[in-house]
Amino acid sequence: MSVQWWRDAVIYQVYPKSFADADGDGVGDLPGITAHLDHLATLGVDAVWISPFYPSPQRDGGYDVADYRDVDPMFGTLADFDALIARAHELSLKVMVDIVPNHTSSAHPWFQAALASEPGSRARGRYLFRDGRGPNGDEPPNNWLAAFTGPSWTRVTEQDGRPGQWYLHLFDSSQPDLDWENPEVVEEFDAILRFWLDRGVDGFRVDVAIGMFKEDGLPDWDGSHWYSSDVEGPHPMWDRDRVHDIYRRWRRILDSYYPPRVMAGESAVPHPERLALYTRPDEMHQAMNFPFLWLRPVASEVAAVIDRTLATAGSAPSTWVLSNHDVRRPVTRFGSEDPWVHADRVTPTDRALGSRVALAMDALMLALPGSAYLYQGQELGLPDNDEIPDQARQDPVFLNSGGRVIGRDGCRVPMPWTPDGPTLGFNTTGDAWLPMPAEYGARSVAAQQGVPGSTLEVYRQLLRLRRARALGHGRLVRHASMEGDVVAYLNESANVRTLLLVNLGPSPVAIPAGAETLIRTDGGDGPLAGYSAGWFAVA
Ligand code: GLC
Repeated sequence: MSVQWWRDAVIYQVYPKSFADADGDGVGDLPGITAHLDHLATLGVDAVWISPFYPSPQRDGGYDVADYRDVDPMFGTLADFDALIARAHELSLKVMVDIVPNHTSSAHPWFQAALASEPGSRARGRYLFRDGRGPNGDEPPNNWLAAFTGPSWTRVTEQDGRPGQWYLHLFDSSQPDLDWENPEVVEEFDAILRFWLDRGVDGFRVDVAIGMFKEDGLPDWDGSHWYSSDVEGPHPMWDRDRVHDIYRRWRRILDSYYPPRVMAGESAVPHPERLALYTRPDEMHQAMNFPFLWLRPVASEVAAVIDRTLATAGSAPSTWVLSNHDVRRPVTRFGSEDPWVHADRVTPTDRALGSRVALAMDALMLALPGSAYLYQGQELGLPDNDEIPDQARQDPVFLNSGGRVIGRDGCRVPMPWTPDGPTLGFNTTGDAWLPMPAEYGARSVAAQQGVPGSTLEVYRQLLRLRRARALGHGRLVRHASMEGDVVAYLNESANVRTLLLVNLGPSPVAIPAGAETLIRTDGGDGPLAGYSAGWFAVA
């Protein structure tokens, strides 16, 4: 594997609570991941990115970190982590871990110290504490809204029992934002990076990579909380120019290791031009392509995002992502009218349509040059679990909205490994932290393994062909057959030319003369069926 392995890597995201549970307590763990790494190796991915496994009250699925240099006992120990890395490297898999720099957990010793200290103290200075507005300071310092509903400020009680200052949290109130103007914060994260680098990690996924710096003076903002394509000019909370100083600093740390380690940003910006800034040569190696994740499966929109991404990516490889732990799974999303987790409850889904479109979009993504991200279970064609009873839901998106907004639990339920058993091979005790739907059994790894045409086998074949034909390194050009509901590109590398054809409409389309089938998601051999994709060798 080359030193620049990430340029065309397929990176598989593991959500540790739900991958595999070795100790049977109902929550996945690091030994469970280690025991199943061979699944990733036979699937044919290059790297695994593991969502947070650090000590955490789990108010936001571990993205509320109380100790950045340890493993939560629920997930195992640092020794288990070392064993995981060793096994992954034996299998030639790279390992990336999540780093959460925008906020800590409110259980973090720094925040606990801040609560116990005076306004203006050094301890408060690591966070964004401000006095309230209004005569008694009982109104929040500004009108910003939190991502998980409600104001982004919470008032504390001071040591003397009186209502006191307010602290900023762009997410849940249990996730206070750090003050990145404070050199102590900057230095602490340098040390955290080195801690994991010294343990052998190959890279980081940077959570909320567009956060960290806020507009000076924290002024009121009349727009919506979310950073969207409607926002012209700077946003007070997101994508401030100064975040790039941090990535330049971190890049120097990563480059001081050999082989150099990588970072990939959760860079949820809607403008590809702003996205490209994150991957300037002295910053990140990858910036996740959210415009691609947010796509509707409409041919003209898909082609437009692909073209614009490639035109703006600069020297960095593009990344492509269709699924993660924050969005409804593609099988559910592509079969639904109102597919977002922030939608008010769930609209009915057409599962058959969603499954076909999802696999076609997977085949599209894996034929594009650059790096692709997969989320656990995507290779099985899993849908969301929409049947989770309200009292079992755990996502703060659901809880803080009083159940109005469905949230992200549906895409986070445990992985099915076997067709039978109460937890379908997730563990042997039958406990699961979120309920698993019975239909997952038929989509389990064991049920699909070796079955021609199963989603898992199609995935394995796609990944084999992608590697054999060096698609990740190719040059992409539009193909003449691109029109109407069809997305068509040629991926050319050296003298290998691969035609990618994706039919996002209902009617079959003809295959260009002379194109030789490599793989098709419709399994057919005549015209390409509706909602299907194929890869073809062309002269
Ligand atoms: C990122 C994570 C998400 C988390 C949020 C706050 O968006 O992917 O799961 O809730 O950051 O840390």
